[in-house]
Amino acid sequence: MIQIEEKYSYDDVLLNPSYADFLPGESDVRTRLAGDIYLNSPIISAAMDTVTEYQMAIALALEGGAGVIHRNLSPLEQAAQVGKVKRYLNWIIEDPVTVKLGQTLGDVDNIMKETGVTGLPVLDGNKLCGIITNRDMRFITDFSLKVQDLMTTRMILEEGTPSVESAEKKFNQYKIEKLPVVDQAGNLTGLITVTDMEKHRTSPQAALDSHGSLIAGAAVSPNDFEQRIPLLLEKRCDFIVLDTAHGNSFSVVKAVEDIKKKFNITVIGGNVSDGDGARRLIEAGADAVKVGVGPGSICTTRIIAGIGVPQLSAVMESAEEANKHNIPIIADGGIKYSGDITKAIAGGASSIMVGNLFAGLKESPGKEVIFEGRIFKQYRGMGSVGAIKDGSGDRYQMKKDEAPVPEGIEGRVPYKGELKPYLNQLLTGLKKGMGYCGCRNIEELRSYQKFVKISPAGLRESHAHDVSITQEAPNYSRY
Ligand code: XMP
Repeated sequence: MIQIEEKYSYDDVLLNPSYADFLPGESDVRTRLAGDIYLNSPIISAAMDTVTEYQMAIALALEGGAGVIHRNLSPLEQAAQVGKVKRYLNWIIEDPVTVKLGQTLGDVDNIMKETGVTGLPVLDGNKLCGIITNRDMRFITDFSLKVQDLMTTRMILEEGTPSVESAEKKFNQYKIEKLPVVDQAGNLTGLITVTDMEKHRTSPQAALDSHGSLIAGAAVSPNDFEQRIPLLLEKRCDFIVLDTAHGNSFSVVKAVEDIKKKFNITVIGGNVSDGDGARRLIEAGADAVKVGVGPGSICTTRIIAGIGVPQLSAVMESAEEANKHNIPIIADGGIKYSGDITKAIAGGASSIMVGNLFAGLKESPGKEVIFEGRIFKQYRGMGSVGAIKDGSGDRYQMKKDEAPVPEGIEGRVPYKGELKPYLNQLLTGLKKGMGYCGCRNIEELRSYQKFVKISPAGLRESHAHDVSITQEAPNYSRY
């Protein structure tokens, strides 16, 4: 007789604690997301139209993670959103908005209004010859005057390759807001702003690229990557996610191969549910593999199609294969509590993707809904009727004119406030788990794998029981 294998989900197991010679707060949650992209927190937000647009991507990257901008947006709009994330934080702005000697104050006014930039270096050819700010413009009535009539020419500058310390010293000493950078010949090579310096200081955990900009990702499909990727690359998108429900399929494997041949960008392939799927995407060139077929809170794929693999086993089997190739795994979907993050990583994942847990945050794009006196936010599957109508049908291999046969539902989740304190609850929960397991960092936890199987009585015992909750905790509730 054919043996039916037993496979496990997060709720089927617990991690057996071990001796620790450090405090949980000392554990290090830095991780490798894909290729040579590293994050300071192993959490990325789902490419869903009720979870990740630029506000979520900025807030999460400031705290060390990264957002994946969804693709129910036109290619231009999606790229523009990536651009907003990449421009949010800079160290040295390498292509600052400038104005040329000879232009009028009317031109300056227009440039400031169009770009939102409040201080412009003035150039003669490539040479820096002054700076003009919105403060200089406050009482101007004659906009036909030339920029050289008003600009400041005695400037505080940095030359060559400045250090953060030297820039900070100049901002403090001279109370300036913009610090131009020039080469030895006096050509403008960049601009440092006090706003960027302050943002860096208040977000020391931010996930940054080599230019000091926030890390940002975007979703593409096998049908639209040719159009989207050039626009995304123009905005310096760090990675793309091939966002499909069945990654172990011809079209997705071929799309990974084609993208790696044509474009210089980090690719996360998915979603798969076993070692075979992971191997195919890795052999096609994927820099990381995303795992999860049907575990998501809004997913009905397993019920509609009768397929899927309980998520912990799917992660463990995919990671076993991916480890042979030194490729990271991302556990996508089904994370209900911070303890599930610890379990996913102990099963071999390097990071996790969440939809539900972030959908109720202030930074998500979902609409706020008041229901029975409480605030909720809309949360829907990308395979739900509403999302399919807005464009995501091809994630589920549906054609544009087909009647929707959904693989997800539309719903709501409680409003949770801002991302920062909520993420702190999740990360501290993970660090507590690492402390209990005696694992100082993500790599140690990834190879821990000391799971114990629990019974329904064990799960019941694990949750709050035999008591009515009178005060909800910020990191625990039961629906
Ligand atoms: P959570 O559990 O965090 O899961 O809400 C988010 C992940 O679910 C996937 N996803 C879907 N899967 N039907 C599905 O079968 C859907 O409509 C759907 N929408 C999203 C996706 O992988 C996401 O990251």
